[in-house]
Amino acid sequence: MSILVLLPLLLLLLLLRLPLRLRLRLRLRLRLLQPKKQKLRISEESAKRIAEKWDKAADTFVTGGAWHQHPLVVRTYKQRLASGSESFVAHIREKYGVRAKCLSIGCGDGGIEVEMVQAGLCETMEGIDLSPVPAELRERVKFSVRNAEKDLEEQGYDLVLFTHALHHIFDLEAMSTAIRDRIMDPTKGILVLEEYVGPVRWQFPPTHLNAMADLLKRLEADYPERVQHIRQNPLWDGNAFTPPDAESIKKDDPSETIRSNEIIPVLSQYFALVESVPLGGSFFQWIFHNAYNALKDDGAGQEIVQKMLDAEMQAISNGKVTSDYVFQVWKNPQQ
Ligand SMILES: C[S@@+](CC[C@H](N)C(=O)[O-])C[C@H]1O[C@@H](n2cnc3c(N)ncnc32)[C@H](O)[C@@H]1O
Repeated sequence: MSILVLLPLLLLLLLLRLPLRLRLRLRLRLRLLQPKKQKLRISEESAKRIAEKWDKAADTFVTGGAWHQHPLVVRTYKQRLASGSESFVAHIREKYGVRAKCLSIGCGDGGIEVEMVQAGLCETMEGIDLSPVPAELRERVKFSVRNAEKDLEEQGYDLVLFTHALHHIFDLEAMSTAIRDRIMDPTKGILVLEEYVGPVRWQFPPTHLNAMADLLKRLEADYPERVQHIRQNPLWDGNAFTPPDAESIKKDDPSETIRSNEIIPVLSQYFALVESVPLGGSFFQWIFHNAYNALKDDGAGQEIVQKMLDAEMQAISNGKVTSDYVFQVWKNPQQ
């Protein structure tokens, strides 16, 4: 037998003969030698910056330059979200029944939360956000201004909701543990997401970038002038699309898409998936970026947007790109 096989065998025998106390001490020493996995934590300063940013968010969206403000996009997105029912809220109510105690984390202005109460899906609804919600919404929903990564003590909810907020969470593992083991009722609770789960800080892989460029090229043949306007977006340089600058995104909001691409893998370690609906938005949202005027809701604008929506969903169905926005329902695996 060669020395290379003998030596590890001898070492193993020696180790097994060591008293337990010594073996434990040795294991501890070895663990201390390993580099520590850095934990992502939200700092007080970041929390303040995020709250300030989202306080002013309503002003940022009034320009009409975002993809989710085009009437045809809004209609299509809502239809996908409703999954064949009249609305998103109606779908949840029909499929999962009335919920006694609902909680929305990162509720923002609380629009959907009020709708959930008014439509009879949630008997009670509470919302948490770093920034305050408008006073007029606080009648139907109990809101509190808090950092969900620090101050979550709630228990026994049968619906926990994130709409575009889980992609702002630094410590997804701690959040998942808190929801599964404390916040959510283990027997009937559901975790509902309408979320961005795409690349961190919108840094798209070449597959996305090429798909965007191809689509625009194809549209250019039929709508040269409109596409010329779309290309005026500073993110387009000739035929190539450059992702937005990651550093500026981080500076604007340190939590923005901080671990978005890890949301589904992390959740699947803690919960069981019940329902998943692709909502799109994968490359479309950035082709569209600041191109609202080129794509107004007139005949040609509608045609272009419809072609973009169809091409994107086809690319998602073919597995060429992933759906960056999803609607999902998760439950405790013990249920
Ligand atoms: C993109 S907005 C979504 C708001 C709303 N849910 C919606 O769909 O319109 C993200 C929200 O998450 C909130 N947020 C981010 N980090 C948070 C934290 N650690 N605790 C509580 N709220 C947080 C922000 O203040 C912001 O209102």
